[in-house]
Formats: sequence, structure tokens, C-alpha cells
Amino acid sequence: VLLFLIKVILKRNIFGCSLFSFLSFQIQTALNLPISLHHWNMVTESSSPGAPLNPAASPTETELRISEIREKLDQMIPPRHFTHMNTTTSAKHSTVTILNPRDTYCRGDQLDILLEARDHMGHRKEYGGDFLRARMSSPALKAGASGKVMDFNNGTYLVSFTLFWEGQVSLSLLLIHPSEGVSALWRARNQGYDRVIFTGQFINGSTRVNTDCALILNSSTELCQYLDAQDQEAFYCMRPQHVPCAALTHMHSKNKEVSYLSKQERTIFVRSNVGVEIMENFNVISVSKCNKDPVPLKAKCKSRMTSTIPSGHVWKQIWHPGSCSLAPIKMNECLRGKSIYLLGDSTIRQWIEYFKSNINTLKTVNLHEYGKLQSQLTVDLDRNIIIQWQKHAYPLIGSSTYSVKDIEYMARVIDRTEGGKNTVIVICLGQHFRPFPIDVFIRRALNVHKAVQRLLLRSPDTTVIIKRENIREMHNDAERLSDFHGYIQNLVMMDIFQDLNVSIIDAWDITIAYGTNNVHPPQYVNIDFNLHHFNSSINHSYLCVHYT
Ligand SMILES: *[C@@H]1O[C@H](CO)[C@@H](O)[C@H](O)[C@H]1NC(C)=O
Ligand SMILES: *[C@@H]1O[C@H](CO)[C@@H](O)[C@H](O)[C@H]1NC(C)=O
Ligand SMILES: *[C@@H]1O[C@H](CO)[C@@H](O)[C@H](O)[C@H]1NC(C)=O
Ligand SMILES: *[C@@H]1O[C@H](CO)[C@@H](O)[C@H](O)[C@H]1NC(C)=O
Ligand SMILES: *[C@@H]1O[C@H](CO)[C@@H](O)[C@H](O)[C@H]1NC(C)=O
Repeated sequence: VLLFLIKVILKRNIFGCSLFSFLSFQIQTALNLPISLHHWNMVTESSSPGAPLNPAASPTETELRISEIREKLDQMIPPRHFTHMNTTTSAKHSTVTILNPRDTYCRGDQLDILLEARDHMGHRKEYGGDFLRARMSSPALKAGASGKVMDFNNGTYLVSFTLFWEGQVSLSLLLIHPSEGVSALWRARNQGYDRVIFTGQFINGSTRVNTDCALILNSSTELCQYLDAQDQEAFYCMRPQHVPCAALTHMHSKNKEVSYLSKQERTIFVRSNVGVEIMENFNVISVSKCNKDPVPLKAKCKSRMTSTIPSGHVWKQIWHPGSCSLAPIKMNECLRGKSIYLLGDSTIRQWIEYFKSNINTLKTVNLHEYGKLQSQLTVDLDRNIIIQWQKHAYPLIGSSTYSVKDIEYMARVIDRTEGGKNTVIVICLGQHFRPFPIDVFIRRALNVHKAVQRLLLRSPDTTVIIKRENIREMHNDAERLSDFHGYIQNLVMMDIFQDLNVSIIDAWDITIAYGTNNVHPPQYVNIDFNLHHFNSSINHSYLCVHYT
């Protein structure tokens, strides 16, 4: 997988010792918060520009955590002076060398490559932070895996591949953004809340009134505040004249013509400068079986999955986790008696769509809503299976209109879930947060974490699964949607949830292995999310896997 800063190596003394514990500190969580029955406290208030989320007189524990995490990230992504493309990292001028090259490689060997980053004038780079993605593949075998990138923070990187299969293997190392671009993206991201502008639809008797809505609204007119009082999460709309705030029914969004990147910086993100191959002239590697001992039998897959990189490989289009083995079984028998809550964005909605089209005993309940973001419910009454999907709350980007009457923060959904050994909760957050300052994401992740902590305290045998963000299209709108933003969010998520007994589905690594640069990975990738990991998590072994 792409690993961009494993600066951890150098920053061990600052950040602790593993990539995912780079921000480790304990949090004390209040566990005795009453569950609010009225999750929407609607209030109108006169605007107070720039006062987004009701900061109390003294910063709360959450505010402190947010700024702590923010500071660590700022240290990880230092500002890099940018003057001209010439002085940024160049894929063409950077050099790669195989360490300890051999004539033949055996299956299971590791192949290490040293990358020396150079700028467009051929000068050695003296700092790291380039956003790189390493992948090995054999298209004829429909095989792929990520490679691990270690950033020495001095302009050199160690890229390691595990040669999982025999055959002709191509290696790829993409320079997605040079460190100067990464630094510009980070600065720009945290400057503006208005890259996406929301339009709220109010019903006023027989007429519809639209107004602007946002996470922060800088306006001198009266605002409607839609507040989750328990977690202090808020969303705002301009209040239409003589219309109550409760009359808000629908929402959609569009991009606003605004950029916090300078004109010069934007040149870093033109198509030809994004995702440039560094190993273009590299020969295919030939991997043989050799006379090695057969691969030892792997243990059964366990519930809690740590994220090693690579976390597995794809072979003949099927995902093989690195550390454990799979066994097939019937899906609907495996899910018998389970109540499955899929909470989050459309990448987790893909799961319910997958279940619906692959388990023919499921019947879908018409909830009489419309649009892509409507809640979904599907059941198998004979086997007592309930599967539901529900969108996460604001910010929710979408050009087509969605209803906000049933919108609910994930933490509240978790709070009203009883849990237990037959309950499975799958969480996926991130894609809709990429265009907004990181604080919004950190706050949400902390609030969901607290809700999961409360749940596991009252129902410790509930299965909670976090699906990491997957990679998406490389060439659209880096400022709003770059995978770099998702990469950072995944780090934040892993850090925040590391103290809980939850399973992680490393959708990031899996989608790199498949090479699907698609925000909605095709169904064969989702098969792997669903059948392999998901079911392994439920039953603590890979029970529901099926190969067809
Ligand atoms: C709000 O608007 C005022 C005046 O247009 C501007 O000075 C201020 O910086 C804005 N604040 C934010 C948070 O955008
Ligand atoms: C960038 O590099 C090219 C080739 O070396 C050179 O012709 C050009 O003047 C440089 N531009 C700047 C602004 O340094
Ligand atoms: C970069 O750092 C690595 C690891 O500390 C070291 O082995 C290597 O010699 C350094 N390279 C340069 C050019 O300083
Ligand atoms: C909403 O309806 C009321 C009563 O009909 C009317 O007075 C008011 O102007 C309307 N507001 C908007 C923004 O259309
Ligand atoms: C984690 O949860 C699983 C399933 O409920 C349970 O079997 C396991 O003992 C838990 N592990 C820890 C460390 O609490």
C-alpha cells in the first residue's frame, strides 16, 4: 500500500513506535452520559460568526483531544516552502535501485527497493513526506498487492514488496503528490469550510424555500442551528423569513468555486503531475516457486485484525489475507440470527446492496423514502436476519436531494442499540469529510469512539467493525478529494480506536491491492469486504467465505 510518511521511523521518540500509534495517549471518557431522546434540539439563534460549535467557557475534553491530534498531525506534515515545480520531487528524476538484486526470485521472498527522491532539476531532496503508492501486480493472473514504503525523512525511501505468487510481476511506485503538494493540501484543507456549499430546502405551506447551509456560516442574518446537544455537533442554515427551523426537509450540495491553494500551488495538482510512475523503465520481475518448503498452514482468521502492510494479496481476483486462511460456508446460514447495522457512507451502503443481490432469501422492506441516501432494510424472516443501512449525519455531500428528517448522528444510533452477541455494527466514515478541515473529522471520530466505548461496556460481546476508507479516483479535484486526505483520516481513525475491541477492515490496502481507483469499488472487491473479513469478524473465523 501506499505509505506516505513512515516518518515514524525517525520520529519514534516523538510519536511512539508504530505507525498507528503515532498519537497515543489515553482518553478519559465520560461513560455516564444520559442518552438524549430528542437527538435534535432545534434552536434558532442570532448568528455569531466564527463560533461554530458552541465552545463552552472552558474547552471540553473533546476540544483538547482535537487540538492534541491536530498538533501531532501538523508536526507530521510540516510546511514546505514552495516556489516552483522545479524544486518539487520529480518522478522522472528520482532514482530507484533494487537492493541485493538476484537473478531469480522465489515465492515468499521480499524485494527491497531504495528510492532517492530528486527534484525536476536533478537535485537530491533532503526531506521526505512525498505521498507515494507502491503496488505489485500480474495482470494475467489478476493478482496484486500493495508494497510498503518507509520514509527516512531525508529524501530516501525504502520500498518493500512481498513476492506472494509465482510468475511475471510488475512493480509500480507512484508519486501521487510531492511533499510540497502534500504540505499545500494540508494547509489549504484546514483553512476553509466552504469548498462545498449546502442548500437546505424548507417547506413553507405550499411553497419551497431554499437557503444556504454549512458546518460554519458566516452571515449576519438569523441562523437555524441543528444541534446534537450531547456531542456538540452542529450544522447551520440561514433561516428563511417567517419560516420555522423545523421546516427544513431536504438538502443537497455543490462545489463552490473557491480554492485555498495559490495559483502556483495548483500547478502541482494538474493531471500530469499527479500519480506519476517512478519505476517506469523497470523490468518485470520473474518469481519462481523454487524448492522452498510448502507454505505453512495459516491460522484461522481472528476477529481483531491489525493492519500490517501489505495486509494480504489478491490472486485470481480473490483476496487472500496475509495472516490467516479462509474456509467457505453458506452466507445466509452464517448470518442466521444476526442483526447487522451498516452505518456511514455509500461505500458501506454497497454492502447491503451486495447482500441483497447475493442472498436470495433476503426480502427488502420498502421504507417509502426516495433517493440514493434513503435508509435501507432487508430481512430474512426464516433465519431471523436483519440488515440495515443508514447514512451518517452532516456533512453529507450529494448533488441529488436527500431527506434530512431522519438524519441522525452515528453516536446516537449506537447509543440506542442494545448490542449483544448477535449484533454487528459496521462503521465507515470519511469520504464526505475530505473537503473540510480535519477538526470536523476528528470530532466525529471521537464522538463515535465514545459511543462504541459505551456500547462495549454494556454489551461487551457486540461485534464492532470499522471499515477504513478505500482509495478513490486519482485524478479528480485534489484539494477536495485527494486520497491524501483519506490517508490522514485513516491514521486518525486507527489512533482513536486503538484502545477498543473492534475489528478493522483495511479497505485501503485491499483496494490498492486490487488497483481499483474507484470510490465505489466494483462488486468483486466488495465480495472480499463482505464475505472474507466481515464474516470472519462475526464468527471469529472466516465462516461465510464462498468461492464461486
Ligand atoms: C466572516 O466574514 C467577515 C466579513 O466578511 C470576515 O472578516 C471574517 O474573516 C469571516 N470569518 C470567517 C470565519 O470566515
Ligand atoms: C526550471 O528548470 C528549467 C530547466 O532546468 C529552467 O529552464 C527554468 O528556468 C527553471 N525555472 C525556474 C523558475 O527556476
Ligand atoms: C537517510 O536515512 C537513512 C536511515 O537513517 C540512512 O540509512 C541513509 O544513509 C540516509 N541517507 C542520506 C542521504 O542521508
Ligand atoms: C412563509 O409563509 C408565510 C405565511 O404564508 C409568509 O408570510 C412568509 O413570507 C413565507 N416565507 C417565505 C420565505 O416564503
Ligand atoms: C473482544 O471481543 C471478542 C468478541 O466479543 C471476545 O471474544 C474477546 O475476548 C474480546 N477481547 C478483548 C481483549 O476484550
